[in-house]
Amino acid sequence: MLTLHAVLDLTDVGATLPKLFDLLAPGGLFYFSINFDGATILQPTIDPSLDARIERLYHQTMDERVVNGRLSGDSQTGRHLFHQLRAAGGVILAAGGSDWVVFAGENGVYPADEAYFLHFIIHTMHGALAGHPALETAVFDNWIAQRHAQIESGDLVYIAHQLDFLGRWPGKP
Ligand SMILES: C[S@@+](CC[C@H](N)C(=O)[O-])C[C@H]1O[C@@H](n2cnc3c(N)ncnc32)[C@H](O)[C@@H]1O
Repeated sequence: MLTLHAVLDLTDVGATLPKLFDLLAPGGLFYFSINFDGATILQPTIDPSLDARIERLYHQTMDERVVNGRLSGDSQTGRHLFHQLRAAGGVILAAGGSDWVVFAGENGVYPADEAYFLHFIIHTMHGALAGHPALETAVFDNWIAQRHAQIESGDLVYIAHQLDFLGRWPGKP
């Protein structure tokens, strides 16, 4: 079995799938998990229109990412994989959601390293959109600071929508 965890949505999927399937013997199974599928949900709301704009621009950075001169990644990788896997000759046996749902437990304490993980997600969003012409720097920096403060107070809830796929590679036709 070939497994790929949280990687395909960073690559040029059309170019990557044939190379992956070449690694499998005919009849071999593949399990591709944590494929981002276009929702980065942060609660509570700070400002509905600003929150929505930041989510849209953040996903746009995923759609425009270029690695080695090629577009690499897609903010809707999950839903696109249904047809991309078939186009590459894969047979989908099962597919389902694998959302990250992160929230604080009792007393506003996040379990394990999840507060660190949340700070890293907010830091990643800040890095991806810092200096973006569609965002006023002071307003965006303040939004980021509020998100970090929400983690410190145990208020922030983060949901990332993702899909997993189990399938078989029948071999080259
Ligand atoms: C989100 S991490 C997931 C790592 C690991 N699978 C896990 O679950 O912890 C994404 C990984 O994909 C690798 N990666 C990104 N683009 C890639 C590409 N085009 N080809 C191969 N690996 C890539 C990165 O180096 C990174 O290690």
